[in-house]
Amino acid sequence: MLTIALSKGRILQQTLPLLEKSGIEINNINSRKLVLNTNLNEIKVIIIRATDVPIFVQHGVADIGVTGKDMLIEHGANGVFELLDLKIAKCKLMIASEPEKKLQKNTLKIATKYIEATKNHFENKSQQVEIIKLNGAIELAPKIGLSDCIVDLVATGNTLKANGLVAVENIMDISSRLIVNTAAFKTKNAEIKKLVETINKII
Ligand code: PRP
Repeated sequence: MLTIALSKGRILQQTLPLLEKSGIEINNINSRKLVLNTNLNEIKVIIIRATDVPIFVQHGVADIGVTGKDMLIEHGANGVFELLDLKIAKCKLMIASEPEKKLQKNTLKIATKYIEATKNHFENKSQQVEIIKLNGAIELAPKIGLSDCIVDLVATGNTLKANGLVAVENIMDISSRLIVNTAAFKTKNAEIKKLVETINKII
């Protein structure tokens, strides 16, 4: 038996065609059940928030999972291996600010949901930062004077534009990854390898 944890929303929409092409179809996908059966007796699926996928996989509640690279960095990826770049849900983790905003300061105030990635990036540049953790509506922060700039995901750029912000620097390219619980990778190696090879061919 293999349990796969999938991330809700945009990632799920792009994961489903990959699974279907691999021969996995989820039963009753719109039901409120948390654990869903598939057309294959040996595979079950859990659909949860992207941020929780690495936690479920780390603790072995799911053997494998699909989540964004951003979420893996925030989680620390303890107890999980990254097996594949699925090359879906592509976006960029970017620094953005109001146009012409001067960002040369001793301590830069940054609003973000992505604490670890932000810390790593500015540590490497030896720039001191004060990080303000927000869980959404991050693009509002510079406008209301909460921060000098933001670090957030950018896909089309529409959200930045609609809120009068411009991209300043690309921190990294993000895409969804297939991850596995390190213990399950040993105990269920044959099943997991077979699935990974199938998905890899489709990518
Ligand atoms: C993400 C991100 C931006 C937006 C960028 O938010 O935080 O707000 O998408 O996309 P765009 O460049 O195509 O406009 P999401 O919709 O995932 O919701 P969230 O704010 O809950 O993270």
